[in-house]
Amino acid sequence: METLTGKTVLVTGAAQGIGAEIARGAAAAGAQVVILDVLSGEATAKQITDQAGQALAVEADITDDQSLARAVEQAQQQFGDIDVLVNNAAMFGDLQQVSLEDISYDTWDQVMRVNVRGALQCVRAVLPGMQRLGRGSIINITTNRIYRGFANMLHYDASKGALSAMTRSMAAELGDRHIRVNAIAPGLTMSDRVLAKEGIQGRNAQIIKGRALGRSQEPQDLVGAVIFLASDASSFVSGQTLVVDGGGVML
Ligand SMILES: NC(=O)c1ccc[n+]([C@@H]2O[C@H](COP(=O)([O-])OP(=O)(O)OC[C@H]3O[C@@H](n4cnc5c(N)ncnc54)[C@H](O)[C@@H]3O)[C@@H](O)[C@H]2O)c1
Repeated sequence: METLTGKTVLVTGAAQGIGAEIARGAAAAGAQVVILDVLSGEATAKQITDQAGQALAVEADITDDQSLARAVEQAQQQFGDIDVLVNNAAMFGDLQQVSLEDISYDTWDQVMRVNVRGALQCVRAVLPGMQRLGRGSIINITTNRIYRGFANMLHYDASKGALSAMTRSMAAELGDRHIRVNAIAPGLTMSDRVLAKEGIQGRNAQIIKGRALGRSQEPQDLVGAVIFLASDASSFVSGQTLVVDGGGVML
């Protein structure tokens, strides 16, 4: 199913975890994929090119405009302007559960800087190219946590709540430039870093009990929703959030 043929898709935070799976899925759907991360994305890119897909790994920090500009320029030279931005990079897997009294203000600021401001910086970096193309799709990865109270990740939840609000406001602001902005809100997903967390199997078992489709959520479960929102199949959809969590939260 090559629904993304001819499109260039930039996925942030794609060196591993959910982002890497989205990158592989977009490439399998025919896209030219740009893997952007502070870490090396070469392994993900090689997996794609080994399967005859098209991929470029670029190292960049989403909170650094100069580093982003260099990455976007490299991507443009190889594949042309970016059609689709997946704002997936975040401080998440490396965050510990912590009570609201114990979150340091430094950590709070860092989470906001990466998860909120970094997402805006990525949008700004790809916007001139999308305007040249006269179209674009931006997909923000939020979380289902913002629709139900969950304890002990207040900084993270606040950042994703902000990204959710930004999805609607950016959709309103960019619509007349034919740029759509949507979000995907995953449930707890067994990415590499999540799997490495202490006590995760017990927490996952609890969450599975609250899901209509009572099983573990894997990174692969998010790929179909990304391809839909990236493709022309969703050409009249903007400002929406698709919760992909096996029926845990029902809006
Ligand atoms: N795994 C889950 O349970 C889950 C659930 C809901 C939402 N999410 C969201 O899905 C996304 C991916 O989750 P994951 O589990 O794969 O997370 P992860 O922590 O394993 O991966 C995040 C990636 O972002 C990169 N990154 C972090 N800061 C960056 C920066 N400043 N510049 C560039 N890259 C940066 C990291 O290097 C890493 O590769 C995140 O936005 C997360 O909040 C995850």
